[in-house]
Amino acid sequence: MRIRRCSVLFLEPREDVAFDLSSLLAGGAGLARQRRWLALAAHLDGEIEIDAAQRELLGRISPGEWSEAAAFDADAATLAGLLDAGLVLSDGDPPARAALRERDERLREAHWWPAAAMMHRLARWQGLDSVGAMEANQLHTAPDLRRKLGAPPAHAPSRADAGPTLALPRVGDTDFDRLLAQRATCRNFDPERALSRELFAHMLQRVFAAQSMVAVADDTVFLKKHSPSGGGLHPTEAYLIVQRVDGIAPGLYHYHPVEHALEPLPAPEGELHAFALRALAGQHWFADAAAMAVLTPRYARSFWKYRYHAKAYRALVLDSGHLSQTLYLSATELGLGAFVTAAINEVDIERAFGLDPLVEGPLAICGFGWRGERMRNTEFDPSGAIWPRAPQ
Ligand SMILES: Cc1cc2nc3c(=O)[nH]c(=O)nc-3n(C[C@H](O)[C@H](O)[C@H](O)COP(=O)(O)O)c2cc1C
Repeated sequence: MRIRRCSVLFLEPREDVAFDLSSLLAGGAGLARQRRWLALAAHLDGEIEIDAAQRELLGRISPGEWSEAAAFDADAATLAGLLDAGLVLSDGDPPARAALRERDERLREAHWWPAAAMMHRLARWQGLDSVGAMEANQLHTAPDLRRKLGAPPAHAPSRADAGPTLALPRVGDTDFDRLLAQRATCRNFDPERALSRELFAHMLQRVFAAQSMVAVADDTVFLKKHSPSGGGLHPTEAYLIVQRVDGIAPGLYHYHPVEHALEPLPAPEGELHAFALRALAGQHWFADAAAMAVLTPRYARSFWKYRYHAKAYRALVLDSGHLSQTLYLSATELGLGAFVTAAINEVDIERAFGLDPLVEGPLAICGFGWRGERMRNTEFDPSGAIWPRAPQ
């Protein structure tokens, strides 16, 4: 049997601290500290505790070259533990282990910078209710935050070492200035009113469609869109949760940016609205949006150019930010509400859309739809641009 180590592996010497009565009674700090080694691999969910022999063996096995297992003269149980965990891969894997080897192979093909791959894997949530957690910790409203956390760093600091201030004129009252002033995150979608097919199509066309294309070869095409994109690669796909659009069956879709067409995908388990709420980690104030786009980079498209590049993941996060701002402004101009959130249950979304997180993994969800007539959830609208304030 030939073996090699998985491609992206970090070892963490972690210290766990727990209350310890006997230490307190003996005049100590009342804390027990225990150290252990954890293996974190970018193709695996979760962390794996390893012992000293396994740690040493991992350091001796090449991640690139296949070698005969016998050459390592390792204790059988030590190696078997690493093989079962997927930290070491073999060319004769049984089916359960072969799935992990295939994941590792897909990861290798994407050319991730290892620290970014690890961060992306570890930051994913599954089944998390972020609203419940905020409420339980009384960190829901701005006054809650102030009371629990004290004052934040200054909202607009001045540099102590700066020269005399140069005042600038306040200019501009164009349509675009007024459009910018109307943009506000919507947390009050109308749960009944559907979007027309035209409005929905218009939004997708503005935000995600290719406006033109340049082919440098038959198999090498660059798209022009309304948002900028690192390397001009436009690797971010829009996976759609369509809840209320006239003439379009509610469900999951993939948007094709060149065809400007929807590709219907299998329905998620259970009710669509419940899936949307789970995807949004319980943020019920967004879950009634008529349509949502899960912003999902195809990592290999970006890392084709930016191989093992320390800035490439950052550029993808920025790409999603640009798409969401284009979506906000497009929606605002059409009279619709819009939102973006990074507080999402990636694992649940990946399962529903059939995605491998290190190949095509979601970063954020944006949505749009008609605003309701009543404000049920607070929006940040201090100047009353959206919700006219009652006369004082
Ligand atoms: C990257 C990003 C993530 C956000 N995530 C959330 C979120 O998880 N939940 C939420 O209610 N709003 C979220 N928002 C919206 C912000 O709360 C909102 O932009 C901010 O309160 C300012 O309000 P405005 O967008 O109306 O100006 C997010 C915004 C951005 C840009």
